[in-house]
Amino acid sequence: MPLFNKPFRALIIGSSGTIGSALVSALESHPSCHEVIGLHRNSDPVIDYDHLETIQTAYETLEKLRPFDLIINTIGVLHTQQWTPEKRLADLQANQLQQQFLSNAVGPALTIKHFSKLMNPAGGVFATLSAKVGSITDNRLGGWYSYRASKAALNMLIKTASIELHRTQPHLVLVAIHPGTVKSNLSRPFRGDEIGRDPSEAASEILSILGSLEASDTGSFKSYRGEDIPW
Ligand SMILES: NC(=O)c1ccc[n+]([C@@H]2O[C@H](COP(=O)([O-])OP(=O)(O)OC[C@H]3O[C@@H](n4cnc5c(N)ncnc54)[C@H](OP(=O)(O)O)[C@@H]3O)[C@@H](O)[C@H]2O)c1
Repeated sequence: MPLFNKPFRALIIGSSGTIGSALVSALESHPSCHEVIGLHRNSDPVIDYDHLETIQTAYETLEKLRPFDLIINTIGVLHTQQWTPEKRLADLQANQLQQQFLSNAVGPALTIKHFSKLMNPAGGVFATLSAKVGSITDNRLGGWYSYRASKAALNMLIKTASIELHRTQPHLVLVAIHPGTVKSNLSRPFRGDEIGRDPSEAASEILSILGSLEASDTGSFKSYRGEDIPW
């Protein structure tokens, strides 16, 4: 992919997180990446999905720094101190559903709305981290209602945006990426440290896949191995 063959600029959203910070580190030592900027809840500018207006404000601050060739949004929530993924229908709570949709679908969609305008018109990749458990076709075990549904909604928002943006930004590749299980705060309560990969390994795999994408891959849902995941 031409993206990584020439000097490129990258923006990592959620750079305080496990995968986000590993992506920043990997890009800082990438020979072709001449600048990487990280955004999170305590960065300047701030991006905080509990305050959705910060998305537009962050965009307005970064506007003077465009264009970016690579944007990766890693923000996502699976559990908090107040709730964990639902095991049964009886566990469903409005507050948990609303918070997961806010952080995993509404915030990332509004980020695509604003930040896609920062992308290099000559071409680039805008990836948002989704999850294979958001695949409706692949759902065999049930459970995890709000996380699954919020990532499925995210996937539909990415697919729909990719169709529209292809008309005005034909060289932009907009994708959903499943990072696989990675040792992190998010996966720790679910044996993540035992079954997950190191964040540095995951970051290198994600960058390798993003670097291999073609314009025709826009609107796809890819795994960290490059396979297409069924919606
Ligand atoms: N780890 C896995 O095994 C795995 C598997 C499949 C998919 N994923 C996806 O990969 C992505 C990254 O996961 P991770 O393992 O790196 O998780 P993580 O270490 O918990 O990082 C999550 C990131 O999201 C940010 N965040 C959460 N709520 C936010 C909000 N309301 N506003 C702004 N930022 C917020 C966190 O910011 P703070 O630092 O401020 O909390 C942090 O930067 C997520 O989208 C997740 O769904 C992960």
